[in-house]
Amino acid sequence: MERTLIQDLHKHLNKEVMLQGWIQEVRNLSKIKFIILRDRSGDMQTLALKADTEPATFELINGLTKESVIEIVGTPKENKESHWGIEVLIKKVNVISKSLAPLPIDNTDKSQTNIDKRIDYRFLDTRNLKKQAIFKIRGKIAKIVMNFLDNNGFTNITTPKLVTIGVESGAELFKVNYFGRAVYLSQSPQLYKQMFVAGGFERVYELGPVFRAEKSNTTRHLTEFTGVDFEMGFIHDYIDVMDTIEKMLIDLLKNLSHEAAVELKLLGVAHTLPPKIPRITMAEAKTLLKSSGKTYAEDDDLDPEGEKLLGDIIKEKYKSEFVFVTEFPWKVRPFYHMKPEGKKNLTKSFDLLFNGVEIATGAQREHRYEILKAQAAEKGIDLDQMKEYADIFQYGIPPHGGVGFGLDRMTQRLLQLDNIREAVLLPRDTMRDRP
Ligand code: 4AD
Ligand code: MG
Repeated sequence: MERTLIQDLHKHLNKEVMLQGWIQEVRNLSKIKFIILRDRSGDMQTLALKADTEPATFELINGLTKESVIEIVGTPKENKESHWGIEVLIKKVNVISKSLAPLPIDNTDKSQTNIDKRIDYRFLDTRNLKKQAIFKIRGKIAKIVMNFLDNNGFTNITTPKLVTIGVESGAELFKVNYFGRAVYLSQSPQLYKQMFVAGGFERVYELGPVFRAEKSNTTRHLTEFTGVDFEMGFIHDYIDVMDTIEKMLIDLLKNLSHEAAVELKLLGVAHTLPPKIPRITMAEAKTLLKSSGKTYAEDDDLDPEGEKLLGDIIKEKYKSEFVFVTEFPWKVRPFYHMKPEGKKNLTKSFDLLFNGVEIATGAQREHRYEILKAQAAEKGIDLDQMKEYADIFQYGIPPHGGVGFGLDRMTQRLLQLDNIREAVLLPRDTMRDRP
């Protein structure tokens, strides 16, 4: 007999079916027994009546443990009173794989198990359909973004994660023993994105792992995350990069609402995007923040508290969950960000904030070799020591710019999760290197 998925039961009313899945709950009464069965498509109440079920099966249900894998042969019937609208009358149950009891974590919707313990047993945690929904949505976000970039002339590239140089100032590198030599885990695909803009692709993107040896113990930082990076050549300005992001996000929210409708509904999340994301300079942001009582110096970056406050101000003023903050101070940006003409203390760069948290950083890159070299020197970096990076700028390179998103943080913010770890199957942080 072919397996029927729970989501398809309504097509098989009053006909015998075979279901396979995990036991979410089992309740034993003397004349009736209930099993809530779960497969990848949903959950369903099944029941065995002493009068109708094979005696051996009726007996066997007594010994069943939660999360065991079983097979049920039975008949789906309409039941308007049940919240499923259907219930399955059990004829026979086979145990495929028995689970130990008790379970090490509580994976029900009412779970009180802390996140640390849940991650130790993540494979049990993700059997909860709401937890699973997070990762189904995360997968869709990646797919929709990749489709958008593909459809807009970007080439999907894969670049090395074992590298010899890092370019993101402030982000620390993990050292790896590479046959006796020191190499590092990549802290961003920045160098390689620029290399293959210069490599004639003009537009490239990569979804891949990014490693940061940051000792930040927060609900928004990990030591390994998934970067969504793109880079585009022949731009006029970093405005072109922001325009592309805006189109990408509109496309993402629109497609996600169709493609992940079931999961979004399960989690009770909905977002709207204004046709234009507000764009304000860092100086304007600081003026707004000042009138709310938070003061920054001209060269300061925003701290998390300021980002959050700015998010509130923007929501109030522009009715937008998103904002681009532009023209970051040169002092807080890496050497490769281009400076605007005649403004040596600023950069042609931006951060994208989503409800008061940075989800992306982007910029136009300095592509003129002599200026880049001088900018590197200003930050105490000798470009001649970074030959592979320096070479890119010496054999013909168009003006270009790009951006890096964190897929984990995007998912976290989009689904209003209180911790980035909820959006990553197996997170890595300063304390955690397993499972
Ligand atoms: O702001 P970041 O460091 O920028 C870059 O890596 C540049 N190469 C991007 C560019 O093309 N200009 O990182 C980009 C994004 C952040 O906005 C954030 O969403 C995420 O990556 N991110 C982290 N996510 C989780 N944990 C961390 N430790 C993260 N650090 C950055
Ligand atoms: Mg950043």
